Amino acid sequence: MKCVVTGCAGFIGSHLCDRLLVDGHTVMGVDAFTSSYVRTLKEQNLVRARRESTFTLVEGDLLGLELESLLDGVDVVFHLAAQAGVRASWGSDFESFTRHNILATQRLLEACRAQTRLQRLVFASSSSIYGNARTLPVSEAAVPRPISPYGVTKLAAEQLCRVYWSNYGVPTVALRYFTVYGARQRPDMAFHRFIRAAYAGESITLYEDGEQTRDFTHVRDIVQANLLAAERAETVGKVYNVAGGARVTLKYAIDRLAAISDKPLPVRRADGQPGDVRHTYADISRAGEDMGYRPGVDLDTGLKDEVEWFERFQLGEAQSHPLTAR
Ligand SMILES: NC(=O)c1ccc[n+]([C@@H]2O[C@H](COP(=O)([O-])OP(=O)(O)OC[C@H]3O[C@@H](n4cnc5c(N)ncnc54)[C@H](O)[C@@H]3O)[C@@H](O)[C@H]2O)c1
Repeated sequence: MKCVVTGCAGFIGSHLCDRLLVDGHTVMGVDAFTSSYVRTLKEQNLVRARRESTFTLVEGDLLGLELESLLDGVDVVFHLAAQAGVRASWGSDFESFTRHNILATQRLLEACRAQTRLQRLVFASSSSIYGNARTLPVSEAAVPRPISPYGVTKLAAEQLCRVYWSNYGVPTVALRYFTVYGARQRPDMAFHRFIRAAYAGESITLYEDGEQTRDFTHVRDIVQANLLAAERAETVGKVYNVAGGARVTLKYAIDRLAAISDKPLPVRRADGQPGDVRHTYADISRAGEDMGYRPGVDLDTGLKDEVEWFERFQLGEAQSHPLTAR
């Protein structure tokens, strides 16, 4: 299979590239190395993929690249490129969110119209499109009510995928990821920040009371869902929740992290942040029925993976300079 992975140098995109290459596919990765976080981390994410002769990297912005020729003869596009993160999406940065999340997606979809070979465009959507869901676990039938500008942009992009499917037959599918973690996690995300603080002997900032819950999803499960969504005919034109089935309080996750890293994690409390939802918990039965998706990584195993990655690759970096996180 000839695949394109947008956002290939990011946290999730790089894992997806590695898995596709191991499975014997040809991968063209596209990434603009945006300033969302330091380039060295993104370069590090790509080290494994770059060793493969079946991998090519196109460094460029989806908003500027000549996409029609780039997509020529491609079987599957995995579209993960985006400006990610809820808290940074307020204020003047919103322009960047609309460019990278909405406009770039629309441009990619336009280019896909001309691709007769294309079997699937798998779009990385987000649980943030739900906002504070009225019933939990939330199913795909719930009315989306995002409470952050980021969530609004992901919902808009998801709707664009549907519109290009229904009008032009671009075979899109949207996967709504629930809080993803594991090795290479973005530096602005909670577990990465917590692990970094633990190793630096600093306290961590915990917003709200710690009783908020998250359905944490290990990146290996997200990768698996992407592969299934690309392969299974039933998925075209649909949206799916993809989650880990391990809904826990943030307090519990911090306790497990302290135990696994064997480091104290002193907590500093702060007020809740605008755009943060109180609880997330996904009904994943549709993904189970249509594509046989089952999460396979439990929280302890996933946290160990992230801690080990941090120890192997990040410890030196963390001590020499702080990573900027928006
Ligand atoms: N990490 C999560 O918990 C989570 C949850 C829900 C949804 N998602 C979605 O999954 C996808 C991947 O997230 P991530 O955590 O790996 O983020 P990430 O920031 O690590 O990766 C995104 C990559 O996209 C690239 N990029 C951004 N705009 C681009 C453009 N216009 N052209 C080319 N490249 C561009 C960036 O340089 C970056 O390397 C995103 O679409 C995000 O919205 C992530």
